Amino acid sequence: MYNLLKGKKGIIFGALNEHSIAWKVAERAHEEGAEFVLTNAPIAMRMGDLNTLAEKTGSQIIPADATSMEDLTNLVEKSMEILGGKIDFVLHSIGMSVNVRKGRHYTDSKYEFTTKGWDVSAVSFHKVMNVLYNKKAMNEWGSIVALTYMASQRVFPDYNDMADNKAYLESIARSFGYFFGRDQKVRVNTISQSPTPTTAGSGVKGFDGFIKYADEMSPLGNATAADCADYTISMFSDLTKKVTLQNLFHDGGFSNVGVSDKVMDAFTED
Ligand SMILES: NC(=O)c1ccc[n+]([C@@H]2O[C@H](COP(=O)([O-])OP(=O)(O)OC[C@H]3O[C@@H](n4cnc5c(N)ncnc54)[C@H](O)[C@@H]3O)[C@@H](O)[C@H]2O)c1
Repeated sequence: MYNLLKGKKGIIFGALNEHSIAWKVAERAHEEGAEFVLTNAPIAMRMGDLNTLAEKTGSQIIPADATSMEDLTNLVEKSMEILGGKIDFVLHSIGMSVNVRKGRHYTDSKYEFTTKGWDVSAVSFHKVMNVLYNKKAMNEWGSIVALTYMASQRVFPDYNDMADNKAYLESIARSFGYFFGRDQKVRVNTISQSPTPTTAGSGVKGFDGFIKYADEMSPLGNATAADCADYTISMFSDLTKKVTLQNLFHDGGFSNVGVSDKVMDAFTED
C-alpha cells in the first residue's frame, strides 16, 4: 500500500454487502490510511452487512436516506465531529429504480416510480453536495466522486430509466462541480464503471448476457469492483488534484470500441 490517503477523512455512501463497489472502496481507503464514516439508507442497515465493514475498517456508521436533507445535514455535521474536522473525500455510490424493481417496461413507466428513482439515484447527489457546499464541510482540494454507467450516453435497452438518471447525475457533477471548484477548490467527477455483479447491477434484466458482452467487447476485459476501488482511491488522492468536471470511463476500453474480434467471431459464418 502507498499511504495515498494518509490523514484524509471521508464519507462513503452505498456499501450494502461485500459485493458493493462502495464496500471495496472502503476497504482500500482503510488500507491507504484514511478515516471515514460509512452511511446507507436506514432500511439497508437491516438488509445489509454494514457492521462487519465498520468493524473491519474501524469506522462509525451514520444512517441517512440520501433523499432527505435533514438526514444529510445530520450526517455531515456528525461526520465532522467524529472525524475531528472537514472532509477530504466523498463517494456517492447509490442507485435504485422502482420501475426496474417492479418490472415496468421503459415504454410503460409509472411516473411516481420514475420520480422516486430519479430522486434516489440522481438528485441525491445534488443534495449531498448542497449540504457539503453550504456548510463549507470540504477541505480545499477535496474530491467528490459518484458512480455512473455508460447507458447515460448510449442505448442499453434493459437499463430502463436508470439511463436517464445517470445522464442527470453526470450533468449534476459538471454543474455543481463548477461552483465547488470555483468557490472552494473541490473537485467533482463521475466514474463510469463496467457492469459489475452487485445487488444493484444484478437487478438489471439480462445482466448475465450484458456483463459477458461487455467483457468480450473490452480489450482489457471488464473492470471489477476491486479495480474500481483502486481507481476511486486515485481520484481521492492528491495525485489527481486538477481533474474535475469529468466523466471518467473505467471500463477496460469498452466505451471506445465499435466491435471486437470476439464479438465479430460470434456473428461470422465459416
Ligand atoms: N453494478 C454495476 O453494474 C454498476 C455499473 C456502473 C455503475 N454502477 C453504480 O455503482 C453504484 C453502486 O452500486 P453497486 O453496483 O455497488 O450496488 P449496491 O446495490 O451494492 O449499491 C447500491 C446502494 O445504494 C443504496 N441506496 C439505495 N437507496 C438509497 C437511499 N435512499 N439512500 C442512501 N442509499 C441508498 C443501497 O442501500 C446500496 O447500498 C450505483 O450508483 C450504481 O448505479 C453500478
